[in-house]
Amino acid sequence: MLISRSSGQRVQRLLLSLLLLTIWKVGSGQVHYSVPEEAKHGTFVGRIAQDLGLELTELVPRLFRLATKDSRELLEVNLQNGILFVNSRIDREELCGRSAVCSIHLEVIVDKPLQVFHVEVEVKDINDNPPGFSVTEQKLSIPESRLLDSRFPLEGASDADAGENSMLTYKLSPNEFFILDIINKKDKGKFPALVLRKLLDREENPQLKLLLTATDGGKPELTGSVSLLILVLDANDNAPIFDRSVYEVKMYENSANHTLVIRLNASDADEGINKEMTYSFSSLVPSSIRKKFLMNETAGEIRVHGDIDFEHTNTYEIHVDVTDKGTPPMVGHCTVLVEILDDNDNSPVVVVTSLSLPVRENAQEGTVIALISVSDRDSGVNGEVFCTLTPGVPFKLLSTFKNYYSLVLGGTLDRETVSAYELIVTARDGGSPSRSATASVSVEVADVNDNAPTFPQPEYTVFVKENNPPGSHIFTVSARDADAQENALVSYSLVERRVGERALSSYVSVHAESGKVYALQPLDHEELELLQFQPRQPNPDWRYSASLRAGMHSSVHLEEAGVLRAGPGGPDQQWPTVSSATPEPEAGEVSPPVGAGVNSNSWTFKYGPGNPKQSGPGELPDKFIIPGSPAIISIRQEPTNSQIDKSDFITFGKKEETKKKKKKKKGSKIQEKKEKGNSTTDNSDQ
Ligand SMILES: *[C@@H]1O[C@H](CO)[C@@H](O)[C@H](O)[C@H]1NC(C)=O
Ligand SMILES: *[C@@H]1O[C@H](CO)[C@@H](O)[C@H](O)[C@H]1NC(C)=O
Ligand SMILES: *[C@@H]1O[C@H](CO)[C@@H](O)[C@H](O)[C@H]1NC(C)=O
Ligand SMILES: *[C@@H]1O[C@H](CO)[C@@H](O)[C@H](O)[C@H]1NC(C)=O
Repeated sequence: MLISRSSGQRVQRLLLSLLLLTIWKVGSGQVHYSVPEEAKHGTFVGRIAQDLGLELTELVPRLFRLATKDSRELLEVNLQNGILFVNSRIDREELCGRSAVCSIHLEVIVDKPLQVFHVEVEVKDINDNPPGFSVTEQKLSIPESRLLDSRFPLEGASDADAGENSMLTYKLSPNEFFILDIINKKDKGKFPALVLRKLLDREENPQLKLLLTATDGGKPELTGSVSLLILVLDANDNAPIFDRSVYEVKMYENSANHTLVIRLNASDADEGINKEMTYSFSSLVPSSIRKKFLMNETAGEIRVHGDIDFEHTNTYEIHVDVTDKGTPPMVGHCTVLVEILDDNDNSPVVVVTSLSLPVRENAQEGTVIALISVSDRDSGVNGEVFCTLTPGVPFKLLSTFKNYYSLVLGGTLDRETVSAYELIVTARDGGSPSRSATASVSVEVADVNDNAPTFPQPEYTVFVKENNPPGSHIFTVSARDADAQENALVSYSLVERRVGERALSSYVSVHAESGKVYALQPLDHEELELLQFQPRQPNPDWRYSASLRAGMHSSVHLEEAGVLRAGPGGPDQQWPTVSSATPEPEAGEVSPPVGAGVNSNSWTFKYGPGNPKQSGPGELPDKFIIPGSPAIISIRQEPTNSQIDKSDFITFGKKEETKKKKKKKKGSKIQEKKEKGNSTTDNSDQ
C-alpha cells in the first residue's frame, strides 16, 4: 500500500510541485505531503524548500525553520538539500488516536523577508496494531442445565488501527460444545457470543478452555486472542451410587451391641449440597431387622443393635437407600447381606430315649441297654457331637446313626460282684473351646439263678441222744445262695438212701423250708451214722412259685420241677408241675402241659374245701408279674354264690395265649367262669 501510494504520491507530488509553484507565486495554497507512520529515521517526506519556492542557498541566510506545536522532532529539514525527512518514530495512533484522518501541521518560517508557509503532512496508517482484548482470560459460569442454543455474550477485541486495519473477524478454537455468533451493532462494531450446541455435563467436563481469536483486516493481518474459561456449574443431575449393588458381610453371632457391621460409602458425582447424602434402611426392611441393626444416617454405618443369634437367623438381607440433599433429591440403593457365623454357644443335649433295665446278669455281649440321642443347636463342627462312656465298665457305646448311639453290653456281668453301675455318657462338641453335657444311666443288674446253694461246711457231725422222742428236732441245716430274692430261696430235702433194711427217710425228715431236721423215731446208734441233706434251689422256672408263696404261703406247696425233670424215661420238662400239701387228691390238679417252655405252659391249680389252710379271698394276691418273662400269674376267685364251682383258681400262663389255651384245654368251665365271675384279678389279657 505504501509503495503504491508513494508511487502515486510521487506523480501527485510532481503535479503538486508544479501547481505549488504557480500557487506560491500567487502567494496562496498549501504544500501537502504524506508519510506512513512508523517510517524509519531519514525517510524522505518531500522537497519542502523546492516546493515552497525557496532556493537552497537562501535557506540558511534566511533562517529557514519549522514550527510545530508538539511534533517538532518528528520531522526535520535538511538545510543543505531542502528535503523534509522523518526524524523520529511517528505513531499515528499516538498522534491522533482513533481519528480516521491524521496529519501533522507544519509552519515553515523564513526571515528577510518574513514569510510563513503551512505544510500538511498526513500520517498514513499502517497495520501496526493487533486486535487486543482487555483481559487475557474471560471467565464464564454456565450451569450444566442450560439448554441448547443458549447465548453467552463475550467481550470483543479492539484494534487501534484505522480502517481495514481495524476491521475485526473472530474465530473460536474447535470444540464440541459452542459455536461463535457475531452480533453486528450499528456504529458499535461486532460483538461475539457463544452459542451452546451440545449439552454441558459438569461431571464430565467441569470446565472448558477455549480460545477466541480476533483478526484484523490489515495486510498482513494481525491477530489477538483471549482465553475463555468456562466453568460448568452443578445441577443435581446425579443420584448417589454405591460402588457395589450387593455387599456381603460375615460376622459372628453374639456380637456385642454397637459392633460395626459395615461402613457404607456411596458417592455422588454432583457438587456441594447436591452430593451431601444421608443413609437409611429402605422401606422394605422389616422391623425384625430394624430391631437388630441400627443405621447411622450420616456415617453410613450399620451397627449391631440387638442379640444376634445364629440359631435364630443366620442371614440378614438389608436394603439400604442413600439420598442426596439436592432439589429434587436423588436416591441410590444397595443391599447388604449379613451372614452370621456360628459361635459355639450351645451345649450338646443328651437324651436317653429308651432303656431296657434291669439287665440280666447273663445277658449276652451286645445286648442293647439304652438308646441315646444327642443334639447340638450349633452348626458345623460346633454342632458335631461325640459321645464317650465312663471308662472301665463292661458297657460300650455304638454309634448307630449320626447322633444316635446304642449303649450295649460290652462284657460280662455278674450281679454278685457288681449289682449296679452308674454310667456317665459324656457328649462333647467339636467347637473350640468345646462344650459338653453328661447324662447318667443307672444300670441295675438283675439276678439270674447262677449260683448253687452251698452249705457253710461240707459235713456236720450231730450228736443225738439215743432213744430220743419221735419228732424231736435234732439239728438245723442252713445253706446260703449268692443269688438274690427267689433265686436265693433254698429248700431242703433228704438224699434218700437205704440204711440197713429201711429207707433213711423213715428215720429223719428235713423241713424243706426251715432246714430243721427231725428224728422220726428213736435213733439207734448203730443204725445211723450219716445223714446226707441236699439243699436245692427251686428250679429257675419256679420264680413263679416263689411269688405264689408270698401270697399263699401255707395253703399251697409247690415243688420244683426237678422231681419230674429227672423222671424216668420222660423228656426234660420245662414247665412247672404242682402238687398240693392238702390230703385231698383233687385239691391239687395239674393241667396237662401245654406247649414247651415256661412261657407257653399253662395250668390251673384248684384247691377245694378240704384244704385246711385255705386262705380267704382277701388274702390272695391278685397277680404275679414274672420278672423277665411276659407271663403273668393271676389268681381267679369264684364269687361265693357261684353256681358252677366254688373253687379258687390260680392261672399261670403266657400273657397272650392264656385265653386260647385255656379254652382249648380246659373247655368251657374256665371260659364260663371268666364271663360270669367277678374277674377283677384277670389281667392276663392286659
Ligand atoms: C469413601 O470413598 C471415597 C472414594 O470413593 C474415599 O475417598 C473415602 O475415603 C471413603 N470414605 C470412607 C469413610 O471410607
Ligand atoms: C454417626 O457417626 C458419626 C461418625 O462416626 C458420629 O459422629 C455420630 O455421632 C453418629 N451418630 C449417631 C446418631 O450415632
Ligand atoms: C444396644 O444399645 C442401645 C443403645 O444404644 C440400647 O437401646 C439397646 O437396648 C441395646 N441392645 C442390647 C441388646 O443391649
Ligand atoms: C367285684 O369285686 C369288686 C371288688 O373286688 C366289688 O366292688 C364288686 O361289687 C364285685 N362285683 C360283683 C359283680 O360281684
